[in-house]
Amino acid sequence: MGKKRFALIGAGLFGEIHAKAYESHPEAEFAVVCDLNRGRAREIALKYHARRYCTDWREVILDPGVDAISVATPDFAHTEIAVAAARAGKHLLVEKPLAMTVEECEQIIGAAKEQKVKLMVDFHNRWSPAFHEAHRLLGEGELGDPRFIYFRLSNTTFVPLKMLSWAEKSSSLWFLGSHAIDMVCWLIGEWPHRVYAVSRRGVLTEKGVDVPDLFHSTLEFPGGAVASVENCWLLPESAPSVVDLKCEIVGSEATINIDTSSNRTVEIADAKGLRYAEMLGGSVVHGRQVGFAVESIRHFADCVVNDREPLVPGEVGLEVTRVACAIERSAETGEPVVIER
Ligand SMILES: NC(=O)c1ccc[n+]([C@@H]2O[C@H](COP(=O)([O-])OP(=O)(O)OC[C@H]3O[C@@H](n4cnc5c(N)ncnc54)[C@H](O)[C@@H]3O)[C@@H](O)[C@H]2O)c1
Repeated sequence: MGKKRFALIGAGLFGEIHAKAYESHPEAEFAVVCDLNRGRAREIALKYHARRYCTDWREVILDPGVDAISVATPDFAHTEIAVAAARAGKHLLVEKPLAMTVEECEQIIGAAKEQKVKLMVDFHNRWSPAFHEAHRLLGEGELGDPRFIYFRLSNTTFVPLKMLSWAEKSSSLWFLGSHAIDMVCWLIGEWPHRVYAVSRRGVLTEKGVDVPDLFHSTLEFPGGAVASVENCWLLPESAPSVVDLKCEIVGSEATINIDTSSNRTVEIADAKGLRYAEMLGGSVVHGRQVGFAVESIRHFADCVVNDREPLVPGEVGLEVTRVACAIERSAETGEPVVIER
């Protein structure tokens, strides 16, 4: 049997990681790239040796020479493509968040189930050695019962003001909070039944991007654990890392502290100031992309090649979106929101 053939729809900043992962996978062929921006599609096709590129995603889903598709379009633009791709019988890796409403997540999951195709959501922190270790220790009972998790995942203003052209159609809650929700729920081992949240806007609006500055959310879990999640797009560009990630897990017997963004493994001081190189998520070592950001995509490729079920199925994406929607509602109304399932 020949290699499994993978396509990428949405070849932006993060889509390129998918292209790298497929191109370097020994049992995968990186076949097709699609982006609305023809120049970008061509660039990624040439760089990662795809056999063709196009600007209309419908061509990709109709291509009989494609077995599986990564959807890495902006947060608000996953659903139509993912549903059509599943209906065309393609296995699917969808970037986080799976979609921005519960109904859209259900449509994607329904289409994948109907066609019996694999569906994975790219919550790649589950491949981060730091969080994998915390999850292992919790699973082995080393911390006792998880009682409280503090999780901060924030960005500098570079992300909403310069990096993402579509920031106003997302927010720090969707772009970052989706990872945070997935991670605290994975660590605690349950989905929350009630959330309270506060959000503020003003600073970014003043700077020309009309989106909330921050979300501060409290998640209550059926087993009694509580999580406190902070996401903002307000950190100054002078911060040594674009991403600020801190996590403290308090169990009944012990605690774990995780800091993957300012761990100073590689600290660079130059005329512009001090910065930390990203070491866990995506470094290139002797020409090979390593790190958890690419490992989750390799895992999806392995699942397609070996006919296995991905570790992060569509249902995880649905539950994360359910919680994010409840957080938005709580922030809007000022009231706690009970999550019905
Ligand atoms: N897993 C992660 O940690 C992680 C990190 C960054 C981004 N992301 C996610 O990846 C997705 C993409 O983010 P990004 O930072 O690469 O954004 P980006 O703006 O850099 O790239 C998006 C690309 O999609 C293309 N596009 C938009 N609509 C399209 C369509 N209908 N058909 C074909 N191409 C289309 C755009 O032209 C653009 O090149 C988002 O959902 C984002 O949240 C995930």
